[in-house]
Amino acid sequence: MPAARPPMTRISTCRSRKAESIVKILLSEDELREGVDRLSRQIAAQWGQRPMTIVGVLTGCIVFLADLIRRLDIPLRVDLIQASSYRGATTRGNLTIDAALQSDIRGHDVLLVDDIFDTGHTLVEVLAELKRHQPASIRTAVLLYKEGRQEVEFEPEFVAFRIPNQFVVGYGLDYRDEFRNLPFLAILEPEDLPDPPPDDRGAEG
Ligand code: IMP
Ligand code: MG
Repeated sequence: MPAARPPMTRISTCRSRKAESIVKILLSEDELREGVDRLSRQIAAQWGQRPMTIVGVLTGCIVFLADLIRRLDIPLRVDLIQASSYRGATTRGNLTIDAALQSDIRGHDVLLVDDIFDTGHTLVEVLAELKRHQPASIRTAVLLYKEGRQEVEFEPEFVAFRIPNQFVVGYGLDYRDEFRNLPFLAILEPEDLPDPPPDDRGAEG
């Protein structure tokens, strides 16, 4: 049977030459819900009832994190860390980490949560930063794992979806800080990009 064509939808853009782009939906709301359900069951099965400190990587984690924590019936605390990596919009620049945690993670079991594992540099550097606080253990969960992009020797323990090497937005992920609010995950092709080609402006993870 031929593969079903991915559904298309319109998204509106803020600061644009185009007011609207038509994009492909890679993961629908239902598929995202099922993936996060599946992942939370895997995490819970391996974690047991030990208290968990979740550390989310801002800003891309917010939607995934909000959905994930409501499915984990484990005593848990939530903390956040800011990592900004994309200087140009879709190319990697230097990573800046603001590691001011609200909670003391020394001796705690930590689950680090990020939106997407792309080259892997962000998670590896955030992990190194968190280890300086001497937690008892750290494991890592990501919503998305982009196939064929990794430049590090590290693999996250928990992955909800493996996706092809394409730039995606929605469900917390942005292009130049837009589109995080889309309830689905869409592929942004170069011709769909609402702005002129990326420059060196900073952007948040
Ligand atoms: P890495 O350091 O290359 O693994 O990049 C991780 C960060 O880059 C993520 O936390 C995202 O903020 C961002 N990123 C990577 N790929 C995409 C994408 O396809 N869409 C939106 N953001 C992305
Ligand atoms: Mg981002």
